[in-house]
Amino acid sequence: MGERLRLNFRFRLLFLALLVAAMSNHQIPALTEASLSLGALDPLRIKRLEEQASALRNSVICAFNQLLDLKDLNTGVHSTRLAEWGMRVGQELGLEEAELQNLEVAALLHDIGKVGIPDAILRKPTRLDPEEYALMKRHSEYGWAVLRMLPGFERAALDILHHHESFDGKGYPAGLKDTEIPVVSRIVCVIDAFDAMVSSRPYRKGLPYEEAVRRLTEASGTQFDPVVVRTFLSFAQAEMSTVFAAAGTSVSSAL
Ligand SMILES: [Fe+2]
Repeated sequence: MGERLRLNFRFRLLFLALLVAAMSNHQIPALTEASLSLGALDPLRIKRLEEQASALRNSVICAFNQLLDLKDLNTGVHSTRLAEWGMRVGQELGLEEAELQNLEVAALLHDIGKVGIPDAILRKPTRLDPEEYALMKRHSEYGWAVLRMLPGFERAALDILHHHESFDGKGYPAGLKDTEIPVVSRIVCVIDAFDAMVSSRPYRKGLPYEEAVRRLTEASGTQFDPVVVRTFLSFAQAEMSTVFAAAGTSVSSAL
């Protein structure tokens, strides 16, 4: 119970900090005024307000990304590049612009809820016991709980909530399956799993690229949406060497 209260307090503090930062730029009052009298605005002013809204959205993404960095939860070049690949999968699957924007947020911030997981569990070098694993699984709910409070991020929050659902219904938190799982969540699930497989951690080396592809393909149709896996691998294979060269490693050197 004490831990829950501490987590709630941390989340509220984080949200408050973001709100204060946004208001100090006079962006939220400007948007509120605009929404009250949008009909009377000229196209130039509307364009400026849209730019302000977009800048605010990007600031929130950057702030949360820095938070992930502080907790050492980002995997550097992999995360950014894989988020880009997630967007490409989304484009190839014909997602609309609004969905692509949610996908960008969800791909970059899907694990933001891990901020609420104790370090002893996050960094445990050995297998988690059932109680620890149950707590670790809460990170998707924690991420949803934080992001849903930000105007414009509600849909991405839901996509984050479901990023550990499994295509066969054996995932968490809701046990959704197939197309019951939001398409953005299905894409993030594949991207996230691939990133986790190929990234090195202090206590283990990442898998070689070929082995990660084998595992993705093997779990296609059970854990992962087969269409997403096929789409992802159709271009990832061709570009993989560039990505790992940028990270200072090579595809075959266990990354
Ligand atoms: Fe996750």
